[in-house]
Order: sequence, then C-alpha cells, then structure tokens
Amino acid sequence: MSELASHLDEMRRRFEEALALARDERSLDEVRVAFLGRSGAVTELRRTIGTLPPAERPQAGKTINEAVAAMEETLERVRTQIEARAFEADLAASIDVTYPPIPPQLGGIHPVRKIVEQTAAYFGRHGFAVVVGPEAEPDYYAFDALNIPSDHPAREGFDSFWLSDTLLLRPHTSPMQVRTMQQHRPPIAILAPGKCYRRDAVDARHLFQFHQIEGLLVAEGAHFGHLKGMLTGMCRELFGSQQNVRFRPSFFPFTEPSAEVDTTCPKCKGRAPECNMCGGSGWIELGGSGMVHPNVLREMDYDPEVYSGWAFGFGIERLGLTCYEVDDIRRFINSDPDFLEQLQ
Ligand code: PHE
Repeated sequence: MSELASHLDEMRRRFEEALALARDERSLDEVRVAFLGRSGAVTELRRTIGTLPPAERPQAGKTINEAVAAMEETLERVRTQIEARAFEADLAASIDVTYPPIPPQLGGIHPVRKIVEQTAAYFGRHGFAVVVGPEAEPDYYAFDALNIPSDHPAREGFDSFWLSDTLLLRPHTSPMQVRTMQQHRPPIAILAPGKCYRRDAVDARHLFQFHQIEGLLVAEGAHFGHLKGMLTGMCRELFGSQQNVRFRPSFFPFTEPSAEVDTTCPKCKGRAPECNMCGGSGWIELGGSGMVHPNVLREMDYDPEVYSGWAFGFGIERLGLTCYEVDDIRRFINSDPDFLEQLQ
C-alpha cells in the first residue's frame, strides 16, 4: 500500500473513533473542523501531494477527494442520528400538567378606596350623589363660608398648610359643602370623598395627608334624627352591628348642634390604659357631624326658616382602622404588600 493510502486509512480510523464519541451537534462540529476544516487533517494530507512525483499527483488528489466524500457522508449520517435521538428525547419528556402555576402578581384595590366605595354604595342607595373638588382651596371655601372668619380661633385648630395668604391645602372636605350649595338649590344630598392635609404630627392615629368623606343633606324638615340614623346605619354597614358607636356633643362653627362620632378603639378594644391608639380613652374619633349652621345656609342664600340640613366629615383611614382592625394608621400608606394583601 502506498504511503498516502496508509495515511488516509489512519486518518479515517481516527475520524470514525471521534465520531463514535460525539453525542451532540457541538461535538459533531468539533470533529468536522478537526478533520475536514480548512486547517484540519485532510488539508495537511493534501499538502503532501506536492512532494510526490508529478505523475502520481492526479491519482493522489482523486484518492483524497474520494476519502473526503466518504467522510462527509458518514458525518451527515451521524448528524441525522443525533438529531433523531434529541427529537425522541424531547417527545419522551413528560410534562406534569397538574403542577401548580406560579401565581401572577396582581394589584388590588387599596383599602381606603374600598371604604369610599362601600360608603358611597350605602349613601347611594339613599339617593346621595358623589362629588369631588379641588385640594387647594381659597380660605373663603375652607373657612369664611363655613362661619369661620379670619380672626376666629377655630382656624388654628385646622393646622393648615398655607400656599399663599389666602390659598391653602384643604384641611377638611367641608369646602365641598359650600361648592355644592353655591351650584344647586335644595333639596341636595351629596357625598364628597377626597384628600385632606393638616400639619399634624404623625402617630398611630394621625397622618398629615389623609382622606375624608363629607356628607351633606339639605331639605325641608331635615333633622338630627336623620343624621343619627344615617350615620349609625353607615357604621353598621361598614363595621357590622356588634361595633359600638357613640355621638358625643362637640363644637364646629359650621354646625349647631354638633356631635363627634366615636367608636371603640380598634387596637385595645377599650381595655388598655396605656394604648397608643386611643390614649387610654377606649374610643377613637371617626369624625364630626351636626346640623348645618343657619349662618352657613344664609351665606348660600338658603332660607334657614325653610331649609335645614345635616352634615358630617369622617376620616376614611379612621374608618379603615375599625373596619379592618388595624393597629396603626401608618400602615395605610406604607405600601407593604404583606399588609395590603391581607385586606384584599
Ligand atoms: N370638617 C370637620 C373636621 O374636619 C368635620 C365635620 C364635617 C363636622 C361636617 C361637622 C360637619 O373636623
């Protein structure tokens, strides 16, 4: 056997061995490059043709070409086998269709929003409309029209954020009483939910930005019994009938008589003298209420001899404390998913 033929034989033996070890497309490719690639074993062998006597060169070239063709064919056959094996393995892999899915992370309705919706649903059934208004108010709407002139000490109690001498972030939703009465004639029945701002130090029951829901009804013959009945009904709707609610005589310049509405402390249930939620009183204040002051009606050109009205303003986060038995009002703004998910 010529020298070239024995070289070829030797190379094909190594080629077959390497192929036998190839398990995937990548190792197959490595074999191809090592033997048939541009600087592979075959190319090296071709270089030796030049050392042969000229007469033998054509035959040598032909022999090498035939060997290469055979090797390429073998390579393709092995490639087909490997592909088929991979495909079979894919088919055989079983999928457990009963495996529990990874739950998608969905948002939810914020508890403050839920309380607004529940309250609006209750009053909506009694014919109240929902209105919304600006968060920055001229002091006329926040105070003067509500029977709080500029020298009245009650202004101080609202701890307001002033934006200019006459414009402030509303410290309560009561300006919406004024805006509604300016635009409509009685009878009127509205609810006004929204953000309010006060320079209050933040603690377990105070935030400097919070929400209120205002209610106002003005009609002929409206009286305190209506107020009490509606607010008691609302508390029952939100808290269930087991929760204690009390009306405590109070003072607001824009209502007379006035009452604050309290409920049993959601944290200590009235039992802990050192409670940081209720200060040991056993009660927390939900908001104020009362019969619309005749001065307010007069300012709106409503005749107090004909019309009477009642109004209230409740802290929505305060309602939330009781509704969900929350131990600290700051939880409503901390955006802690663990907390919020519990209230979904
Ligand atoms: N606006 C009062 C407050 O924020 C609450 C209130 C509303 C009182 C309506 C009486 C009538 O404290």
